Amino acid sequence: MCKRTQTYVACIWESKVLQARKLNQHYGDSHILWDIDFHVEPGSCTCVLGRNGVGKTTLMDCIVGLNAISSGDISYSGETLTKLSAAQRVRHGIAYVPQGRQIFPLLSVEENIQTGLLMNAKSRTVVPQHLYDMFPVLESMKSRRGGDLSGGQQQQLAIARALALDPKVLILDEPTEGIQPNIVEEIGDVIRTLHTEHKLTVVIVEQKLAFARRIGTHFVILERGRKVADGPMSELSDEIVSKYLTV
Ligand SMILES: Nc1ncnc2c1ncn2[C@@H]1O[C@H](COP(=O)(O)OP(=O)(O)OP(=O)(O)O)[C@@H](O)[C@H]1O
Ligand SMILES: [Mg+2]
Repeated sequence: MCKRTQTYVACIWESKVLQARKLNQHYGDSHILWDIDFHVEPGSCTCVLGRNGVGKTTLMDCIVGLNAISSGDISYSGETLTKLSAAQRVRHGIAYVPQGRQIFPLLSVEENIQTGLLMNAKSRTVVPQHLYDMFPVLESMKSRRGGDLSGGQQQQLAIARALALDPKVLILDEPTEGIQPNIVEEIGDVIRTLHTEHKLTVVIVEQKLAFARRIGTHFVILERGRKVADGPMSELSDEIVSKYLTV
């Protein structure tokens, strides 16, 4: 590859990176996140791992703008997001499926997905068929109230709602928590398709190690609010697992 092409490719690559630099966050007097550097390659699936209470959700909330940071910088596509509201970050293509799903229980399945469409620049109101193709169970239940779905179906609904935004980056916080194994498999297949075939950048907080190893291309480990390890998933050794993840 010639030097000019190399520079061009490097530019495109750099421009789509999601990055956090030296992030610090406090809840009142409690210092929760400490100098976190976080770098997500475009088109990768980065799994954020760590024991309970180490700051995984806090970090995701900071990235999407639901939590204020005390210092540091968050950027995407070379543009700083730090001062933008959560809604503005959505318009930059960052979608979030929060821990516990938080679907609207009284709205129908279809209406829940339409709330995602409301934030989409294409201003569509009809749910795109590809979302139902991804989660056929949602099409068969589109008139049912969200709150009447099983936990696994609600998780699929929350993912479909986030995908209705046509995001460039999808952030999921523990999407397999409390969900039956066959739906965990289905969700894993969808996430894999999203980043391998559709080149969507995925960041996923996950406690199930086997699941993370199956779908992840990279990992980041937090321990007491600090990043203690990261790298390609192939480098997640048993030694690292027993040091930072085994309970
Ligand atoms: N709103 C809040 N106010 C004060 N402290 C909080 C708040 N939310 C979280 N914390 C504290 O911040 C720390 C990190 O919590 P966080 O929820 O980010 O951890 P986590 O790694 O996502 O945990 P889990 O695996 O249980 O989901 C914990 O000590 C928690 O008690
Ligand atoms: Mg959490």
